[in-house]
Amino acid sequence: MDKEHIRNFCIIAHIDHGKSTLADRMLQLTGTISDREMMDQVLDSMDLEREKGVTIKASAVRMIYQAKNGESYELNLIDTPGHVDFSYEVSRALMACEGALLVVDATQGIEAQTLANLYLALDADLVIVPVINKIDLPSARVDEVAEDIHNLLGIEPEKILRISAKEGINVDQVLETVVKEIPPPKGDLDAPLQALIFDSHYDSYKGVVAYVRVMDGKVNPTDMLRMMSTNVDIRPVEIGVFSPDMRPVKELQAGDVGYIATGLKTVSECRVGDTITTIVRPAEKPLPGFRHPKPMVFAGIYPVEGEDYEDLKEALEKLQLNDASLVFEPEKSQALNFGFRCGFLGLFHMEIIQERLEREYDLDIVVTAPSVEYEVVLNSGEVIRIDSPAQLPDESQIAEIREPWMILQIITPVDYYGTVMELVKKRRGIFKEQEYPAPTRVQLTFEIPLSELIVDFFDELKSRTRGYASMDYHFADYRPGNLTKLEVLVGGEPVDALATIVHRDNAYHKGQALVSKLKELIPRQLFDVAIQASASGRIISRANVKALRKDVLAKCYGGDITRKKKLLEKQKRGKRRMKMVGNVEIPQEAFMAILRLE
Ligand code: GTP
Repeated sequence: MDKEHIRNFCIIAHIDHGKSTLADRMLQLTGTISDREMMDQVLDSMDLEREKGVTIKASAVRMIYQAKNGESYELNLIDTPGHVDFSYEVSRALMACEGALLVVDATQGIEAQTLANLYLALDADLVIVPVINKIDLPSARVDEVAEDIHNLLGIEPEKILRISAKEGINVDQVLETVVKEIPPPKGDLDAPLQALIFDSHYDSYKGVVAYVRVMDGKVNPTDMLRMMSTNVDIRPVEIGVFSPDMRPVKELQAGDVGYIATGLKTVSECRVGDTITTIVRPAEKPLPGFRHPKPMVFAGIYPVEGEDYEDLKEALEKLQLNDASLVFEPEKSQALNFGFRCGFLGLFHMEIIQERLEREYDLDIVVTAPSVEYEVVLNSGEVIRIDSPAQLPDESQIAEIREPWMILQIITPVDYYGTVMELVKKRRGIFKEQEYPAPTRVQLTFEIPLSELIVDFFDELKSRTRGYASMDYHFADYRPGNLTKLEVLVGGEPVDALATIVHRDNAYHKGQALVSKLKELIPRQLFDVAIQASASGRIISRANVKALRKDVLAKCYGGDITRKKKLLEKQKRGKRRMKMVGNVEIPQEAFMAILRLE
């Protein structure tokens, strides 16, 4: 199709505001998927395996839309990840578009993440089409939300689309507005090829499939290609478009969105943000803004049973096939034996990986408390980077420890102003500024150490604001901090996997809280177990888990054998998530205890 009849756009929305529902409606209205397939999709989304859904699987879909003016348009809808940790991926997806639908739930209003992504879209010069969704709900505050959007974007409230994606109300207007308001792509057909990779997935037959937006030039299946930043050369296995399944085509041109199946075996050779060009006539330079993903949060992942180590390794390798931002390397812990030190883009990313290992790979794992990466300046002047408290050298050798600080943005109803301020202050945050995007809501900006954000911050924010606050964060810089290692000794032995790095002012309080928490969590054994916390070489707190007297089977004396078996079975199951440390059994929760201290 000629460029004038192409529209490339994405949807910016907060989780649950209705992005997938609207996307599905558009696919249906344009006949991209049939009503029957739609039913299957709806059925799919009802079971646990929501990942199977069409819109969720394909992160770019081509639709052909017959507009009211009688002409056909090619609409390319590009998906953007919804989580804060993926803002780089979002920025690349935005670069592939000329416009964005801003979908806002009429009962909720604009949330912090949406705002952050909206700013990214404005930075990328996209045309924003605001849409208020869920107008069918009785609790919808349509006019209020329209006023908020007006304040934010200057668009007249009466011009803002009001829809119900679920009921299918006014969805046709969304398609019309996309055609009218969003400009067609620019790009020079005769220039050397520049294709932006905005996503990828691994296919066992075609290798890594790069999702591309062609900025300039053309690409054919016979062209020899080069990834400009990684310097990897390929002969494409296939090129095509998503409609919504992969459909091969003979050519992709400037303005088009589609895929290039590379035949590559790992996504790390085919990076999001990289530029693909041809070898015979390469582009002078790659498209701007390419970055290597940088893990910010680290944790140890260990199999509960040592024999599962290989399975865990394989599972991580498989996950990495589709997720170049997941990094891991083998690690040995005294307490937990063999496992992996893993790096994640952020907390949410870590949770996703943990859940997938458990759900999709059915692995029993122990995850240690997350840590950030510290810069440690030694007395010799040498700077080392550590991402595990166990790696921290002895205090006598350390001149300074620096930790990552973030810019944190929170949007909350004004009623919760006080409690949010208190929470951030307690977590060593520094208030910077406030704005009122709407009269009843305040947007607060802070600086805060990342280490404070990764310990249960989001959950506490949610519970303090009854779920109404939303947050967004990004890296600011490294700053020196008065930090020290808090160690835990169980039965007199230091347990490396329980060590954390804390601010010195909080060490005493945290040490005490941790010991009393561990006392609750560590089950009674056949002997007394001493739990101690120490910082800077001094014991700051201790407690005893008293010995267990009763045998579990005692009450079954004379009882029947099946009952006995059941009890033993139950005990065994309970053990699955335990780790033997020395001769003490420590449950998974203990390793995460540091997250739940108050
Ligand atoms: P994630 O996939 O989690 O990012 O959410 P999403 O933004 O894609 O939202 P999704 O489309 O899954 O919708 C979230 C919930 O809102 C679902 O239960 C939908 O059925 C519901 N929903 C979406 N649009 C509407 C609407 O117009 N009206 C009503 N009443 N509910 C809607």
